[in-house]
Amino acid sequence: MKHTRIIVTHYGGPDALQVLEEECPEPKDGEVRVRVLAAGVALPDIMAREGVHPETPPVSFTPGWDLVGVVDRLGAGISGIEPGQTVAAMPIHGAYAEFVCLPQRELVPVPSGLDAAEAVSLILNYITAYQMLHRSAKVNPGQRVLFHGASGGVGTALLQLGRLAGLEMYGTCSSRNAAVVSDLGGVPIDYQHEDFVEEVHRHTSEGVDAVFDPIGGAHLWHSREALRPGGRVVGYGNTTSLRGGGLGSDRTGRRNRLHGIPIYALYIAGGWLLPGRKRVVPYSIQTLKRLRPALFRRDLIALFDLLHDQKIKPLVAHRLPLAEARHAQETLEKGGVIGKIVLVRNGSSLESGAA
Ligand SMILES: NC(=O)c1ccc[n+]([C@@H]2O[C@H](COP(=O)([O-])OP(=O)(O)OC[C@H]3O[C@@H](n4cnc5c(N)ncnc54)[C@H](OP(=O)(O)O)[C@@H]3O)[C@@H](O)[C@H]2O)c1
Repeated sequence: MKHTRIIVTHYGGPDALQVLEEECPEPKDGEVRVRVLAAGVALPDIMAREGVHPETPPVSFTPGWDLVGVVDRLGAGISGIEPGQTVAAMPIHGAYAEFVCLPQRELVPVPSGLDAAEAVSLILNYITAYQMLHRSAKVNPGQRVLFHGASGGVGTALLQLGRLAGLEMYGTCSSRNAAVVSDLGGVPIDYQHEDFVEEVHRHTSEGVDAVFDPIGGAHLWHSREALRPGGRVVGYGNTTSLRGGGLGSDRTGRRNRLHGIPIYALYIAGGWLLPGRKRVVPYSIQTLKRLRPALFRRDLIALFDLLHDQKIKPLVAHRLPLAEARHAQETLEKGGVIGKIVLVRNGSSLESGAA
């Protein structure tokens, strides 16, 4: 049986993405073959395509951090899981495919009745948001927070979970996306025309308790200026390496997994050494998952419960067929996307799981 998967043939622009038809993979011992219903599209996929994400594999590789799918075939030695069951996984790469084979320990059951595109949005974006709020910043009701990129995938997750946690929220976004940030309970700050440090101090006088910064580089230091004494910046990305570099270009790059890391280390050290008790702490979903896999599983199950109980509602910006992966990444690169782009099986918007 043939299946389709997307591959990155070289580090560079969207032209690096190719559609490949090949034999369907067979599960090895201890593996489960999953028919993918929905795969998330995220900036880390684009950073890996450009070669500048710490998790960039050697070329050629299949992108795709997260997926929701149906168990299709069991390898030898598998028990406790049945064909037809809906599962979620975060393989970090490989999800842009019709079928993937994964170790059983990677699979988390998805409750019945959830929309696959909404469910997949919880994996990378909402776990990141949830763990940063409750495990890195350890927020309490009534605290003030600033989210950068508030209308994006992780940003809208932060706003929804921050509202549930009873936070006073500020969010940077471009002016075209301000209404989304207000609708989700945040005060929008137009990062293109306003100084967010001044705006935060105008609203809160002493500053916020925590800032969540995916931009990286010198931006981390501006974020620190928006803190009250004793506050912390949670740094979780390096979008600046795309914005300043090859974003959307057709150049051929090279694999540089340490891109931006030394400057990160400098800002973390500075936070400890300089007066003001304002720390910069890094967050990485993949590091925490490797160190504490049970926590990843527990937090994802908690988020599925919140979705099932309609306490959160991921914003799915576009549902596109797998073969349109290039268009999906180009759309995300252009900016202005509200929430998450999802690649869905056959372009269907109604595929849902049944456990
Ligand atoms: N550490 C981790 O474990 C982890 C996990 C997941 C994601 N991430 C990181 O999180 C970041 C966001 O990922 P995503 O998938 O949510 O991306 P996304 O959906 O594209 O959202 C990014 C948002 O950033 C906004 N933006 C761009 N430049 C900005 C600036 N200077 N100030 C404020 N906002 C700005 C964009 O707004 P406009 O379109 O309006 O310009 C966009 O809404 C990426 O850097 C990714 O690597 C890290």
